[in-house]
Amino acid sequence: MQPPQRYTITSALPYTNGPVHIGQLSGAYVPADIYVRYLRLRYGRENVVYVCGSDEHGVPITLTAQKEGVTPQDVVDKYHAIIKKSFEEFGIDFDIYHRTSDPLHHKTAQEFFMKLYDKGIFIEKESEQFYDEENNQFLADRYITGGCPHCDNEKAYGDQCEKCGSTLSPEELKNPTSAISGNKPIMKKTKHWYFPLDKCEDWLKEYILEGKLDGKQHHDPKNWKKHVLGQCQSWIDGKLLPRAMTRDLDWGIKVPVENAEGKVLYVWFDAPIGYISATKAWAKEKGIDWEPFWKDGANDEKTKLVHFIGKDNIVFHSIIFPAMLKEEGSFILPENVPANQFMNMEGEKMSTSRNWTVWLHEYLEEFPGKQDVLRYCLIQNMPENKDSDFSWKDFQDRNNNELVANIGNFVNRVLVLSHKYYDGIVQPCDFSKEEDKAVLSEISKAYESVSAKLEKYEFKSALQAVLSLSSVGNKYLADNEPWKLFKTDEVRTGQILNVALQVVQHLAVLTQPVLPFTADKIVKILGTSFDDFSWSDGSNLNYIPGGHQLNKPELLFDKIENDAIQKQLDKLAAAKSQNLAAAPVTDYAPIKSTIQFDDFVKLDIRTGTIVEAVKVPKSSKLLNLTIDLGLEKRTVLSGIAKHFTAEEVIGQQVCVLANLAPRKMMGTESNGMVLMAEDNDGKLKFLAPSEVTKNGMSIS
Ligand code: MF3
Ligand code: ZN
Repeated sequence: MQPPQRYTITSALPYTNGPVHIGQLSGAYVPADIYVRYLRLRYGRENVVYVCGSDEHGVPITLTAQKEGVTPQDVVDKYHAIIKKSFEEFGIDFDIYHRTSDPLHHKTAQEFFMKLYDKGIFIEKESEQFYDEENNQFLADRYITGGCPHCDNEKAYGDQCEKCGSTLSPEELKNPTSAISGNKPIMKKTKHWYFPLDKCEDWLKEYILEGKLDGKQHHDPKNWKKHVLGQCQSWIDGKLLPRAMTRDLDWGIKVPVENAEGKVLYVWFDAPIGYISATKAWAKEKGIDWEPFWKDGANDEKTKLVHFIGKDNIVFHSIIFPAMLKEEGSFILPENVPANQFMNMEGEKMSTSRNWTVWLHEYLEEFPGKQDVLRYCLIQNMPENKDSDFSWKDFQDRNNNELVANIGNFVNRVLVLSHKYYDGIVQPCDFSKEEDKAVLSEISKAYESVSAKLEKYEFKSALQAVLSLSSVGNKYLADNEPWKLFKTDEVRTGQILNVALQVVQHLAVLTQPVLPFTADKIVKILGTSFDDFSWSDGSNLNYIPGGHQLNKPELLFDKIENDAIQKQLDKLAAAKSQNLAAAPVTDYAPIKSTIQFDDFVKLDIRTGTIVEAVKVPKSSKLLNLTIDLGLEKRTVLSGIAKHFTAEEVIGQQVCVLANLAPRKMMGTESNGMVLMAEDNDGKLKFLAPSEVTKNGMSIS
């Protein structure tokens, strides 16, 4: 298949409501940056545009402003600067990092709205919404608090209860209160413009499930990730409903029609259009035409649009934005939306409000010059198809045992030996020996396999393929032992180092997308230039010529010591204790009514060890546990299957309520109960003696 002539690549516009953290990097920025760097090398920089920018509208930003006693513009100015700078330093190589508060964006979004409006796409509809009479404003869902209908939280938000996690709509709240004035809001009629997503159902189904658009094959849906298709499918299976594309709010882009005072475009309407306005701003600066990057020309040129995002943005990028583009009529639609899942932090859900993450700007300060180490870890742990985890221990191990030991060590050895034996002058070699040819063919194969993986958005495996080439180099040295051979055969030693240097050179080319800082360093050490070594399709390779003078070696990576890691762990521990201290009392279950000591002694609680565990068929919750209670073995059915796998609980010591009356569940009798601690998020922890103890001991 002919490759497309142009690529438009986007990364989700981050909300300008706080700095950027590693979860976002691994989800939407590192993968896009790798892909873009590869495309530029392979298809020419002029055929690729990579756009991003700050998403500066939306209710949460106005809430932050209110909390900090500043204007929303102050909030976005502050974070736009921090985010832009940290992306730059980290090496995310956008062609432009724009912002949605820019007048060009306002104009672009308004024009887009008007085009749909003039085509008669929108449905105008009146509805009743909460209104604060004291402040004369309609209340966004987030601005209304009240009692949760599902739990005892009295301060649930109009869109969500943060205690029990249920999604809400403001009418469901008990005693709704305005978060601005504290007053009881009234209901008032308001008009909004709805996008009829329901009318797009038929073509959306074809587009997403079959990859067809207007009856023609647009892309192969097999190239979309399963979890992305899964989310789309369940959205389509549910009911597609008209969605309001305007809001009653004063922060945002004014709705450009008459009688729409006090109304702005819904943030999810304007933000994705930010990709288009960013492209316009970029093209304008370069003095070129932006349209080919978003519209197909008459002469059958094709542009491939790809959105890199996290999984929380899937529906917006694969259903709603495509629907907007299609109804507008003149735009291309995404060819793929290779969304990533989430990255956890030290085994727990990442949380910005709880400081349970790594902030990019802090990392850059605390680990100067180590961009590629973080990048490497984020690739190795990229949540490509399932949630993943970042831990500082893993970060240290990967640096010390993988980067230092593999690429770092190989490049350094070749350079040190070349200087030691030949003053850094590359010796001639005609690559006539079979073992040398074999290495060169491994280089060609590496280009093929890295390219193939990158084309499929498989970034982890692409990195693996790069590392394998460095392993080939390491093995070639180990097999040929130039450090011994030099004493007897100077000529052959020179040839061996020549071959190894070709590997180093092509490693530099191949690491450009995945580890760009390292690639630059290698080329600097080699004294070569990327201009002479382009990305190969595997068929012909350029070589460093004999006689070339190498520069002095420099270590690519150095060891990360324990104290640097400990400092980070201390920081997390501090965040944790602060969160515990700050946790409102309502986050705890209330104490139950008083019982007497006699009631307590009726409980026979024993230590035990889980010796067997199997999942109960047809039950999503139950594990069938065999527990050794010292005096006997018991079968206990425990509702922990959503939290633990059967394999991982085997060997776990537990406390068991041993005299609980037997109970039959799913056809099996359960004899006792495993005691668990449960936190607010519903996370379970085993209760066990602080050290491994004999089974069957009584607890009192
Ligand atoms: N700001 C959104 C987020 O951080 C992403 C917006 S992506 C765009 O989740 F397409 F709308 F720009
Ligand atoms: Zn609740």
